[in-house]
Amino acid sequence: MGKRQEKEKRARRRVASERREHTTRRAPVRAGRLSPDRSVPASIPRPYYAPDAPPFVPAVPPDELADRMRAAGCAGREILLELEDAVAVGMTTDELDRICHEACIARGGYPSPLHYKGFPKSLCTSVNEVICHGIPDDRALADGDIVNCDVTIYLHGVHGDCNATFFVGDVDDEGRRLVQVTKEALWKGIDQVRPGARLYEVGRAIQEHAQAAGFGVVRSFVGHGVGEEFHTAPAVLHYYDPSADLVLTPGLTFTIEPMINEGSWELGRIWPDGWTAPTRDGSRSAQFEHSLLVTATGVEVLTLLPGEPHGS
Ligand code: MF3
Ligand code: CO
Ligand code: CO
Repeated sequence: MGKRQEKEKRARRRVASERREHTTRRAPVRAGRLSPDRSVPASIPRPYYAPDAPPFVPAVPPDELADRMRAAGCAGREILLELEDAVAVGMTTDELDRICHEACIARGGYPSPLHYKGFPKSLCTSVNEVICHGIPDDRALADGDIVNCDVTIYLHGVHGDCNATFFVGDVDDEGRRLVQVTKEALWKGIDQVRPGARLYEVGRAIQEHAQAAGFGVVRSFVGHGVGEEFHTAPAVLHYYDPSADLVLTPGLTFTIEPMINEGSWELGRIWPDGWTAPTRDGSRSAQFEHSLLVTATGVEVLTLLPGEPHGS
């Protein structure tokens, strides 16, 4: 056997043993069946990528952006909290999708994921080893699962994007620690945001916190500018890269949304559905996300309700 083959064999063994270490007593998540498409009433304004969008979507006057982002952000947060209340053993992720879909419409908004680059549902639901972009289906949540719900609503011409990871029934201590550390990591990142700061300070703070806890930071998915566009510049890395040296300025709106793995940081093979992104070693992954506005003096968290404290 050549040197290269031996090296590859050792690498395969390592991945296999890490996989065993993190997946004992837990069945991998498998694709389920999708429910029929959900529709959005014609009266709800659509983003340009919706199949039935009008040929022109009017631009938002720049002086109205912040207020509109606040409204979309709060609406997204309300829906996320509604989902938190609904999560329970036996509930399907499709049922969570239905709740999200109807809650967006009830607020006069469009569920941003629906038909975005072909995504078929109104919410992303990512269970256990799924890092992100899980598609809601008929899989029932099981006791001990962790599930991330990622809500984005298009309201008043802008997107409000937030997510959180919830416990289903009794989650083991390591799963609880993973979720707690991930939420703390998001807030360590948010704490770096102020005019004059460099974007890499955000990723550096997140990576330090996650790695000190022994966890891996996902590199394949990043935060993003958000506003009239669902995803735009800048890319917000959740790890330190000195070339991410953008200077933050008042008015900038973007998300921070770290994905932290119990084991290796590496991405596995995307499912045949083209979306679902699992960890390479099968270990669990948690995520939290907020949409942010850089203010004259610091940061405003657009996806918190009035009165909700920092750290939520
Ligand atoms: N809300 C996700 C994010 O935080 C994006 C979901 S895109 C979708 O960026 F198409 F999967 F919905
Ligand atoms: Co986002
Ligand atoms: Co999101």
